[in-house]
Amino acid sequence: MNGWFETVAEAQRRAERRLPRSVYSALLAGSEKGASYRDNTEAFAELGFAPHIAGLAAERDLSTRVMGQDLALPVLISPTGVQAVDPDGEVAVARAAAARGTAIGLSSFASKPLTEVAAANPRVFFQTYWMGDRDDILRRLEHARAGGAKGLIVTLDWSFSHGRDWGSPKIPERLGLRAMLRFAPEALARPRWLLDFAKGLRLPDLTAPNLADPGQPAPTFFGAYGQWMGTPPPSWADLAWLREQWDGPFMLKGVGRVDDALRAVDTGATAISVSNHGGNNLDTTPAPIRVLPAIADAVGDQVEVLLDSGVRRGSDVVKALALGAKAVMIGRAYLWGLAANGQTGVENVLDILRAGIDSALLGLGRSSVHELTPDDLLVPPGFTRTSGTR
Ligand SMILES: Cc1cc2nc3c(=O)[nH]c(=O)nc-3n(C[C@H](O)[C@H](O)[C@H](O)COP(=O)(O)O)c2cc1C
Repeated sequence: MNGWFETVAEAQRRAERRLPRSVYSALLAGSEKGASYRDNTEAFAELGFAPHIAGLAAERDLSTRVMGQDLALPVLISPTGVQAVDPDGEVAVARAAAARGTAIGLSSFASKPLTEVAAANPRVFFQTYWMGDRDDILRRLEHARAGGAKGLIVTLDWSFSHGRDWGSPKIPERLGLRAMLRFAPEALARPRWLLDFAKGLRLPDLTAPNLADPGQPAPTFFGAYGQWMGTPPPSWADLAWLREQWDGPFMLKGVGRVDDALRAVDTGATAISVSNHGGNNLDTTPAPIRVLPAIADAVGDQVEVLLDSGVRRGSDVVKALALGAKAVMIGRAYLWGLAANGQTGVENVLDILRAGIDSALLGLGRSSVHELTPDDLLVPPGFTRTSGTR
């Protein structure tokens, strides 16, 4: 068997079988009751298509341009702190994205250095949170520039909502001997995962190399997280300052309200991502697909509007584009692919999405992703949500 899977749901099942329980549940994430997490995928299924039966396009163009990069399809890799999923981690994801013609957002909490990721895929955007003081932030921007980042993603929708009704994984600060002994029963129950790390004679080290101060060892994931938690949140003036320090494409990620989208435009953002962090943050925040139409309507002609959270199928991508997004970003979909089958698994996921987009375009009689409009969809009454209109 070559490990090929036909849907993202199957990749997730394989990820669950392959990963130690703690690692799997760290990827599953979600928060509180999991209402946003569920709404993110279920909302897509509430939207219907309105396909044609003749006069369909023989060829369909999926290509687009986002944050100054030409992409073969309107799907980007959203930044995730991928720790301990696969020994090649973000480098494998970057290679897969390059092979399928798209860009990768690299989390500042990633397990691989930016330079290695940029060497695997030059279409890389570095993601950062507002953490540390201005000097720390400037050093991180310099790291991004020197490492070859083509754009900056600033993620703003995080308010440290940690509890989950189904419990959170216990992740050690470092995988030293004691932690390994505690972790051993779980890891031994997943011999293929263990073998993959053992082959490279390395254990997942749970550090964040992109957050290291010059000449210092990389901080642990939790050490860096602590710094972030202790940082006062940014004002719009802080974000305007940050925008001035970065002379390339600049995305604000996590927008959910029209007034914040307008302020993002005032800040000089190149792009925004309408997102609820995959349902990992403030629970009961609606699925981004519900708030997208109002936001796209307000700012779609001034800024590139992306959407992330809940995308599992090509048809989801098409629905987001029809409601005003220029492209989408995916998180768990590629993490499941990575866990199921490494780089090939991520390519497999991008191929599934590509085929699904193409199939929907064919049915809808569209020859390009740029032709999609709300007319292609049946939007049930009461589907959309709008917050923050002036
Ligand atoms: C395990 C995990 C880790 C994440 N880490 C980050 C991160 O470090 N930075 C960030 O901007 N977003 C992070 N996200 C959010 C994703 O970028 C993205 O918004 C989200 O996964 C989209 O939802 P989806 O998983 O349903 O596609 C993370 C998401 C998950 C599931």
